[in-house]
Amino acid sequence: MAILMLRACTVSTLSKQVKESNVQQRRWINGVEGIAYGGDYNAEQWPEQTWTEDIELMKQMGVNLVTVGVFSWALLEPAEGQFDFSFHDRILGLLDDAGIGVDLATPTVVPPAWFWKQHPEARVVTKDGVTLGHGSRGMASPSSAAYREAIARVASTLAERYGSHPAVRMWHLHNEYGVPISECYGDESVAAFRAWLKTRYGTIDALNTAWGNLFWGQLYREWDEIDAPRRSGSVVNQSMQLDFSRFSNDQLIGCMTIERDAIRAHSDLPVTTNFMAGETDATDYWKWRDELDIISNDHYLDAERRDNYVGLAMAADLTRSYANGEPWVLMEHSTSAVNWRDRNIAKRPGEMQRNSLQHMARGADAIMFFQLRASRFGAEKFHSAMIPQGGTDTRVYREVVDLGGALKRLTPVRGSRVRSRVAIVWDRNSFWASGQEWHPSIDLDPRERTNAMYAQLWHRNVTVDFVHPSHDLSGYALVILPQLYLVSGESAANLARYVDGGGTLFASYFSGIVDETDTVPVGPYPGQLRGVLGLSVSEFLPLYADQAVQLSGGGSGTIWSEEIKLDTADAVQTFVDGPAAGGAALTVNRVGAGRAYYLATALHGDDLGAVIDDVLGAAGVDTASEVHRNLERITRVADTGEAYEFLINHSELDYAVAVPGAIDELITGEAIAAGTVPVPAGAARVVRVVR
Ligand code: GAL
Repeated sequence: MAILMLRACTVSTLSKQVKESNVQQRRWINGVEGIAYGGDYNAEQWPEQTWTEDIELMKQMGVNLVTVGVFSWALLEPAEGQFDFSFHDRILGLLDDAGIGVDLATPTVVPPAWFWKQHPEARVVTKDGVTLGHGSRGMASPSSAAYREAIARVASTLAERYGSHPAVRMWHLHNEYGVPISECYGDESVAAFRAWLKTRYGTIDALNTAWGNLFWGQLYREWDEIDAPRRSGSVVNQSMQLDFSRFSNDQLIGCMTIERDAIRAHSDLPVTTNFMAGETDATDYWKWRDELDIISNDHYLDAERRDNYVGLAMAADLTRSYANGEPWVLMEHSTSAVNWRDRNIAKRPGEMQRNSLQHMARGADAIMFFQLRASRFGAEKFHSAMIPQGGTDTRVYREVVDLGGALKRLTPVRGSRVRSRVAIVWDRNSFWASGQEWHPSIDLDPRERTNAMYAQLWHRNVTVDFVHPSHDLSGYALVILPQLYLVSGESAANLARYVDGGGTLFASYFSGIVDETDTVPVGPYPGQLRGVLGLSVSEFLPLYADQAVQLSGGGSGTIWSEEIKLDTADAVQTFVDGPAAGGAALTVNRVGAGRAYYLATALHGDDLGAVIDDVLGAAGVDTASEVHRNLERITRVADTGEAYEFLINHSELDYAVAVPGAIDELITGEAIAAGTVPVPAGAARVVRVVR
């Protein structure tokens, strides 16, 4: 019964789907039938006879899309302005003959050695004043005029030659902007930072006010007195650091749009760049998404965590949210171990398929790997691949072939959507600001809180979208603020409007503490959220590293407590002991048609789960009564109303799952009898459901 209710709620929100992106209808990969499947194909590392073999194997694996040329700049432009197209011509020709599509990369992530010799000023300078060398990978200074000129030339030349090549299906700009280099403190960057600040603040007085420069006597009189926030004697102005993060993000976007525009002058194929959603701190992807035709993401498991599939699910939900709910591309993940962690744990049998289908369950319509064939040389020779060092007589290869077959059978799922009634607020500006020094406790960590709250929802099979706090939230029954330290006036008003209109808000401690300039609003904490939460905080009472405090509801909190003064809010639970003993620990404020909950300590595991259950209940979000431990359950709904229910069993138990309305299972092709789907330990099933 509860399951039926959950479904009913899911469908009823279809029409309420939040539309925030300026891109009305994203485009999809040209000419790729079904689910796209493949990976990065660094063919230049291999002799041509291997290409022929690779293409035969691609057919066996069911590959229909490969990313070509990510690291090919040195081959493509052997000297400034002189192009050699022979590699690209040959490989694109062979792939086209085989009917395999190409996601053609601009190779701008690794400029050639001649570039660095001619333009040493383009090298990145770190916060500590170290000028980075080459001989590796990574970005030139995003503010370098020589680099910007060079990427425009390369992108334009590639697009002019291959913009209508029959093999090319989409454009892949650069590679993981911001990783491993996102900031530069060199001369050109400082000049660009000053120009950016002038545009933002207009006058030096406005900047002095925004940065609080009366503090520690940091007033500026002239723009050219301003430096980058490089390493200094003590804590560098925090508002300045926050602006430098914003500036650095904008410089990367600037490089991306230079390439995109150079391509669009010659080609109308869709353009993407591979994000690292949830993994890189450098980029505010809410600002990137509308610049791109297709959203794509790279994801690598936290292999040392046994429940790393929860983190995977979160990255996938975040990517879908950037894509505004539309299908997205999983551009890279690994078939088995990576090579760059301390312990590179191999994926166990079936794990790669589960990982792939998790991404698909959460909206990906393209499943791609890094990389097609394992490198024999270089820093990544121990990284797994679709064709591993051991060749085709390996478990990994056999699983890759099986996955290709499964994805073919999952073609009907393409284009269907995931819907959710719960959203978690995700704001990179707030992460940047809260990551700074000299805050009330080193244990304050919004990412940890986000992960903790997400995990509780995951274990209840509650599907989550991520939102910016200024987005239209009206389509959600529940919005969670895991620790939104920075809240702008606009976002605060938006959150208040959401609650007033009937929404349920659940905020944790240390939210609403500063505004967008990292300044504490006048009056008690939590500043601009005081009204909606109906309380104020008289004093922060952070806990010792090993301290736990008891709550009247039975849970035990760590990290944080505080003295709360209730205004219009009511206490739901109080602190039993600790520095805030007797005071409110969990509160609720009724505002208009909605309510806002506030939790003043860090709860974990089942203690946090119990509060989340109450909040979900208050918001009217039903959770299925039948929850199988570590069985992930997500529904994608097609325009036709047909639904695909993904059942991914991460446990060691065999389950029989009730799926009312189930017709058949797409991976095995089996008909479903009596609405019960067997999902053996470690298996994944995709059930077609008609309601
Ligand atoms: C990605 C990167 C790839 C490859 C991969 C290895 O971050 O885009 O080029 O290095 O990591 O895991």
